[in-house]
Amino acid sequence: MIALLRLFRFLRGSGRALALSFGLLLASTALGLVQPRLIEMAIDRGIEEGSPRAILWGAAGIILAAVLAAGLNLASGYALIRSSQRMGYSMRNALYRKVMGFSFENLDRWRTGELMVRLNSDVNTVRMFVRMGMFIIVQSVIMIAGTVVAMYLTDPGLARVMAVFMPLILILFFGVANLIRPLFMRVRIALDALNNTLQENLAGAKLVRAFARQREEIDKFARRNRDLFIISMNVGYKLSLFFPLFFLIAQLATVVVLWSGGTTLISESLSGAAGNLTLGKLIAFNNYATMAMFPLLMLGMVLNFVSMAMASAIRLEALFAERASVQEHPAPRRLPSLRGEIRFEGVSFRYGKGERALDDIHLVVHAGEKLGIIGATGSGKSTLAHLIPRFYDPEQGSVWVDGINVRDLAFDTLRTRIALVLQETVLFSGTVRDNIAFAAPDAPSAELEHAAAVACADEFIELSPEGWNTPVGQRGAGLSGGQRQRVAIARAVAARPDVIVLDDVTSSLDAATERRIIENLYREFQGRTAIIISQKVNTIRHADRIAVMEGGRIADVGTHEELLRINPTYRTIHETQAGIGSEGSASV
Ligand SMILES: Nc1ncnc2c1ncn2[C@@H]1O[C@H](COP(=O)(O)OP(=O)(O)OP(=O)(O)O)[C@@H](O)[C@H]1O
Ligand SMILES: [Mg+2]
Repeated sequence: MIALLRLFRFLRGSGRALALSFGLLLASTALGLVQPRLIEMAIDRGIEEGSPRAILWGAAGIILAAVLAAGLNLASGYALIRSSQRMGYSMRNALYRKVMGFSFENLDRWRTGELMVRLNSDVNTVRMFVRMGMFIIVQSVIMIAGTVVAMYLTDPGLARVMAVFMPLILILFFGVANLIRPLFMRVRIALDALNNTLQENLAGAKLVRAFARQREEIDKFARRNRDLFIISMNVGYKLSLFFPLFFLIAQLATVVVLWSGGTTLISESLSGAAGNLTLGKLIAFNNYATMAMFPLLMLGMVLNFVSMAMASAIRLEALFAERASVQEHPAPRRLPSLRGEIRFEGVSFRYGKGERALDDIHLVVHAGEKLGIIGATGSGKSTLAHLIPRFYDPEQGSVWVDGINVRDLAFDTLRTRIALVLQETVLFSGTVRDNIAFAAPDAPSAELEHAAAVACADEFIELSPEGWNTPVGQRGAGLSGGQRQRVAIARAVAARPDVIVLDDVTSSLDAATERRIIENLYREFQGRTAIIISQKVNTIRHADRIAVMEGGRIADVGTHEELLRINPTYRTIHETQAGIGSEGSASV
């Protein structure tokens, strides 16, 4: 409940609209309470006393009150729709900002499907609670209070009879709600699991087909779907207990009111003693009793709404509470440009509780230097690169850029002045131009074309009929692996960074194209720092210096010739790749 109430902070600024809405609702409900009294008047003064005028007035009053009440109710709903939609809108934006602030480490832990359920379904549940749930609760409470007062005013004796039944119904729906509440959280969790499966499957749709695993994946999905089905059914079964029991109690109440009121009326007329109760009053009372039952029924249904919203609220608050594991310094240093000196001082790092992926790294990359990093798969090359723009923070030691600890630098400086081309190429849907201009949306065409030329992407762009407007599908569909890599390199070059880091991004290219791109990059980045990671000696052999990584450590640093002399691993890699003969296109 607390989590749900805390989410009401997103209603800030809607205070007036909410007050207006509930004010209108109060007025509309109060008008609704007048109706039975008008019926009573029409019967007791009209029918019983034979006055058609009284009947007419009664009927006119009923219509007027009903129309007015409907109008007020409608206005109240409108006022609430705006507030609830605004709440949903700002919650979604806030959650999205939150996720955007996540570090790689946070992203490793939160699964995409889960985040999607939270941003869509959970936000909607909470929003609907504000729109419908709160509306119904307020309306029901007003109606119950109003009808109880009206019943006492109409006939205190009958009101005491009703006093037995109303709490009975309250007990009933709290009981049912208690049965169901824990199930709602399980429904959400099952929904998460289903969405994760769906999302991963769709993302890996081609892989599933490539390995002919559709059957297994369909089964996996069916299992998750079945979990959701069973839990939801369970909720439905328990929920369906409520209605028959409710109607039973409600009918019983009517019967008792009729019996007790009817016998009183009969005995009054037999004894000739005019009592307080009249036929009109009995009918009015019965109307009130029915009117009191209706909000009770609504409350019962809404209680489940509340439980559902509570489960969603807890999940949303958990997401809001997630702290980005890499936090920007509160008063960060912003630099317009970097010289490009990068220093690792005793840096160690591990993913979660795993083995050390980096172990006591000491390394200086001089400003303007071209540094190659080579090492077997899993030796920690990508991890090392990710620490420079603070995708992760080291567990021990520190990373320095231009003599400033990266923890003191603004994200903006780190990530726009340093361009890291990730090992896994990610392109967005759009055109080739959109993708290359991603980090430099205002760059003139000439600059984008230059960047494309550096990455040797111009060749295929110009050859394709639509040129720069060649559409790129989801995750780069429509382009070959090598084309994607070249677009990704061009994207980084177009951003005009002071430091570029290429994480094995020429792996899909033929040796000749690869060599041209590296040469272009050396020329383009003359005076700027470039770090080139690869498993191939040929990719990095002309770098100023080369670092050899082995099992999370830096084994040696030197030029190609020096390493051939001093580092046996490097020599072996070189010999293996040269031995195969074909321009060293084999990997380690
Ligand atoms: N996100 C992650 N979560 C957990 N462990 C990871 C993660 N990324 C990498 N690792 C582990 O850290 C170690 C170093 O991985 P890293 O990606 O840095 O290697 P690499 O040298 O870049 O390899 P490759 O040449 O294959 O790209 C590996 O043992 C790997 O399993
Ligand atoms: Mg890697």
